[in-house]
Amino acid sequence: MALNEESAEKRKSARLAIFELANMISVPMSLNAIVRLKVADAIWQGGSNAPLSASQILQRIASTGSDPENLQRILRMLTSYGVFEEHLTIESSPLDGSASERKYSLTEVGKTLVTDTEGLSYAPYVLQHHQDALMKAWPLVHEAVLDPTTEPFVKANGEPAYDYYGKQPEMNELMLKAMSGVSVPFMEAMLDGYDGFKGVERLVDVGGSAGDCLRMILKKHPGVRQGINFDLPEVVAKAPIIPGVTNVGGDMFKSIPDGDAIFMKWILTTWTDNECKLIMENCYKALPVGGKLIACEPVLPKDSDDSHRTRALLEGDIFVMTIYRAKGKHRTEEEFKQLGQSVGFSYFRAFYVDYFYTVLEFQK
Ligand SMILES: C[S@@+](CC[C@H](N)C(=O)[O-])C[C@H]1O[C@@H](n2cnc3c(N)ncnc32)[C@H](O)[C@@H]1O
Repeated sequence: MALNEESAEKRKSARLAIFELANMISVPMSLNAIVRLKVADAIWQGGSNAPLSASQILQRIASTGSDPENLQRILRMLTSYGVFEEHLTIESSPLDGSASERKYSLTEVGKTLVTDTEGLSYAPYVLQHHQDALMKAWPLVHEAVLDPTTEPFVKANGEPAYDYYGKQPEMNELMLKAMSGVSVPFMEAMLDGYDGFKGVERLVDVGGSAGDCLRMILKKHPGVRQGINFDLPEVVAKAPIIPGVTNVGGDMFKSIPDGDAIFMKWILTTWTDNECKLIMENCYKALPVGGKLIACEPVLPKDSDDSHRTRALLEGDIFVMTIYRAKGKHRTEEEFKQLGQSVGFSYFRAFYVDYFYTVLEFQK
């Protein structure tokens, strides 16, 4: 190919790529629509996952007057992102002899939205991320660059996210459901690949939300006899009663209950370096010598490639910056290690048991 032809091709590809990026909002918003319409449960139907047309899906979920063509447009677009599998069938038509019909089943990605027997899935996480208060913060991402002292969420809603959720019972409950839906599948993988709970009898889960992580740890490790689910008072007030688990309300920035070991999942990421140090110092104080802080956090790779893993981690980083703390962030393994050392933890190890979360072990 001649040089000028090659650069013309590159310019065409670049124009296409910028169109894709500029319209990217269609992807999460359509995903949100699919969740609101409960499309995944309608297709799954107890495990049949039989391909259905948009009209057939609507017969299962919607009242009359709904629009199958518009649903199909959404299903087609999300097929290109791997949420659905499209099945094209050619049917005979009296007019021109044939017509095609598009039907959709769930891929492995789509199946994460199906409600399981415990009422859990990734669907509440999708809804949680697209509530009005969070959506209002997104046009202000640039403000986190110009003025990192106030989060875009605070600029949009007048107060920090957790304070805001605390005053809205339905947001609080959705957060609990979202965390449960995300935590349970990860904890299954974690408990298969990580064996650091040996010898622990009293385990504190800091920011434990509904207590799912503790419930699963206690089931897998009967030696852990006492679980302390520690979270904000308004959160533990809604947490279910789990045998062996005591719900304790409090503020991790003030103090953390004592334990042989401390577990936390998806906590440090939300906060600035100084806030992380404060949380980790409180953990250090609550542990005996030799005791471990076991933190499960997203850990950034060094390279900025275009893999799904890197993208999911970098996208989550911008979410933290926008919603929770302008200087809260996803960190590299080295940055976590240094945070631990700065508050006195002597030993550090990382276990890559999952593609999103890494288990980080800090020992006193
Ligand atoms: C991202 S969620 C993670 C929940 C749970 N660990 C999981 O992974 O499913 C963060 C949790 O930290 C809790 N949290 C926020 N601020 C807190 C504080 N000051 N003290 C204790 N918990 C807090 C929230 O209520 C929430 O349950």
